[in-house]
Amino acid sequence: MSDPPADTYAGGTADIVIVMSQLPKIQRHRWLTWPRLCAAAVLSLAGICLIGLATVFALAPGDPVRGEQIYQRCFACHAIDRDRTGPRHAGLFGRAAGSVPNFPYSAAMKKAGVSGLVWNDETLNAFLESPTTYIPGTRMGYAGIKDPQERADLIAYLKKATQQ
Ligand code: HEC
Repeated sequence: MSDPPADTYAGGTADIVIVMSQLPKIQRHRWLTWPRLCAAAVLSLAGICLIGLATVFALAPGDPVRGEQIYQRCFACHAIDRDRTGPRHAGLFGRAAGSVPNFPYSAAMKKAGVSGLVWNDETLNAFLESPTTYIPGTRMGYAGIKDPQERADLIAYLKKATQQ
C-alpha cells in the first residue's frame, strides 16, 4: 500500500530526462548563457543569505514599556536616582563606567571606565548579556539577560528613565 506505483517513479524519471534534454535548447537563447545562469544562481543564494542574516540580527526596536517591567530585576540592587548595592542609573548614557562619585566600585569596573568604557546602547547590550564576561571581576552579581529583545527593551527604558 505504501509503495508508490512503479509507473509513477518511471514517470518522474522520464520528466527529469525531458528537462535535461531541454537544457541545451534553453541555452540557445542568446542571453541565457551558463555563466549568466551561474551568476544568477549565486546572486539568488547571496540574497537568501542576506535575508536570513537580517532576520537574525534585526531586532524590533526596544519597547520602553516592556523594558520598565524588565527593570524590576535590577531593582533588587539599583535605583535610577540613588545608589544602593549598585550605583544609581541617572545619567547613565554617555557616562564612563565606574564613575559615580563615592560609589564603592570594583577595581575591574573602575579600570574599564579609565580605559575608555562609556555606557551607550552597544556597551550596555554587551554588558547586560553577561556582566562577568564583559567585565571580569565586576561586583555586579547578576547572571545577565540572554534574550536580545529583552535587552533592547530594557535599554530603551533606561534611555528614557535615566535622562529625567
Ligand atoms: C545583585 C545586585 C545587582 C543586580 C540584580 C543588578 N546589578 Fe547592576 N550593578 C551592581 C553592582 C554591585 C554594580 C557595581 C559593579 C562593580 O563595581 O563592579 C553594578 C553596576 C552596574 C552598571 C555599571 C554602572 C556604572 O556606574 O558604571 C550598570 C549599567 C548596571 N549595573 C546595570 C544593571 C541592570 C540594567 C540590571 C538589571 C538587569 C542590574 N544592573 C542588576 C549590582 C547589581
